[in-house]
Amino acid sequence: MFDAIRIGGPARPQVLVIAQFQDEDVAKQAKQIDPYGHLQAARQRGEATGEPGRIFELFPDTKADKNAPARIMLVGVGPRDSFKVGMLRNVAASIGRRLVQTRETDIRIDFSDVLNQSKADAYQAGIAFGEGLGLLGWVYDTFKGKATKTPKRTKLNVRSEQPEFEEGIEQGLALAESTNFARSLSETPPNICTPDWMAQQAERLGREYGMKVKIFRGRDLERENFTGLINVGKASEHQPCMIRIEYTPKGGKGAGKGKTAKAGARAQKPVVLIGKTMTYDSGGLSLKIGGGMVGMKRDKDGGCAVLGAMHAIATVIQPRVPVVAFLAAAENAISDEAYRPDDIIRYRNDVTVEVTNTDAEGRLVLADALIYACEIEKPRYIVDLATLTGGVVIALGSVYAGLFCDDDDLRTKLDQASEASGERIWRLPLHQEYRDMMKSPVADIVNSSPVRKAAPITAAAFLSHFVDEKIPWAHIDIAGVHAVESDSGPFIKGPTGWGVRLLANLLENE
Ligand code: BES
Ligand code: ZN
Ligand code: ZN
Repeated sequence: MFDAIRIGGPARPQVLVIAQFQDEDVAKQAKQIDPYGHLQAARQRGEATGEPGRIFELFPDTKADKNAPARIMLVGVGPRDSFKVGMLRNVAASIGRRLVQTRETDIRIDFSDVLNQSKADAYQAGIAFGEGLGLLGWVYDTFKGKATKTPKRTKLNVRSEQPEFEEGIEQGLALAESTNFARSLSETPPNICTPDWMAQQAERLGREYGMKVKIFRGRDLERENFTGLINVGKASEHQPCMIRIEYTPKGGKGAGKGKTAKAGARAQKPVVLIGKTMTYDSGGLSLKIGGGMVGMKRDKDGGCAVLGAMHAIATVIQPRVPVVAFLAAAENAISDEAYRPDDIIRYRNDVTVEVTNTDAEGRLVLADALIYACEIEKPRYIVDLATLTGGVVIALGSVYAGLFCDDDDLRTKLDQASEASGERIWRLPLHQEYRDMMKSPVADIVNSSPVRKAAPITAAAFLSHFVDEKIPWAHIDIAGVHAVESDSGPFIKGPTGWGVRLLANLLENE
């Protein structure tokens, strides 16, 4: 879309953008921007309605007024009563799409009227706007070849009259950059993006932003008893690994009140983030059939989102608390060495699992990370993200991710973060009866319930066997929201990087 988006540009930009509530005039600014009554006439013709994202354009006489912008975009933000700053993500995307057509590169945003009237927080509004532009700007052409003509891309300079709004845009653009990093990882094909390749990305991130990275592979997996990863990954020529990334707060903001950075960090329990990172899910011996396998390169999107969140944490959020991330990375392939239905696996916490379906592999690798995190990291809480079940797509579609969390405090934090990021979560229940549905006649539990009922819930119930009851834990099933099938809002068909901004917001408030 754009080559780069940055704050700045000339004092007199080419385009001025003003917001309009639905079916309302642009009160104060109207006369100033519409001396010839074009806007009024357009409103009478039924244009310039102010519907969300709808753009009406005016062209001031730049000969008569040398300070006037060449184009004014009047953009609708919907009805006044239901206005929320989060809507500005899609509004920004509409403006961005129009700018790609007009090829103008310098814009100034003046939403002050609308924001003042709705008593909205200008900084938060700026963040949403910046996110919208930044997400729209994502380009992934790494694998385009000679047969594709690359479109010419322009730079975009953005300014705002309101300093808080402009600061917000900067923050929003930064968060979009972290999200776009996750999207690019997600888009990387499985012949390139192997578990080892993901480990290399984590190591590079760690080197660039001063985070400690440790990769458990081969013997390390055996020593730590990461039996889920060993089994799920053993049919692939690409070896599985557990990727651990540690962010430690540094000085100033990170140290906490009255403490030195080190003492503060040592005294603090970390937040643990876990991501399912299946670089390809063929289903294993319980092979996926029909069209079910296409797109399974995205079965790593939980891990991609966690890595994107660590990027945001290290670059923009810099929270006061330590954060430890685990990416359980493997390829679920087939060979004569594949794990099979009927195998029994014994975990590090001595829970045994009878494999009844090798396509329910995500929970098997997440179990390793959950046990290890509870036992070794002693976290304040754990959040895991996983493209875990097709069932959650049936239940919630692509509108909400499924949330499983019985801890009231953690749920409140996640709800706040979700409200800020616009990434919606809907709570589903955990109950002993769902755990009972996972009982095995030969081992403790099965990895896939013999009845197909409540699949996302029984998956979460499975995971609960590997979490210390005393540690607050949230599992988020992102199978429905990690990608979109067609262009929508600031996203083009493909990965959304769902969760990066949710997790960033969660840590921002710690
Ligand atoms: N990776 C899939 C879940 C998935 C489905 C993600 C669609 C994204 C889109 C997961 O490993 C899987 O295959 N789950 C099975 C579980 C079943 C065998 C209990 C499913 O949901 O069908
Ligand atoms: Zn699967
Ligand atoms: Zn999977």
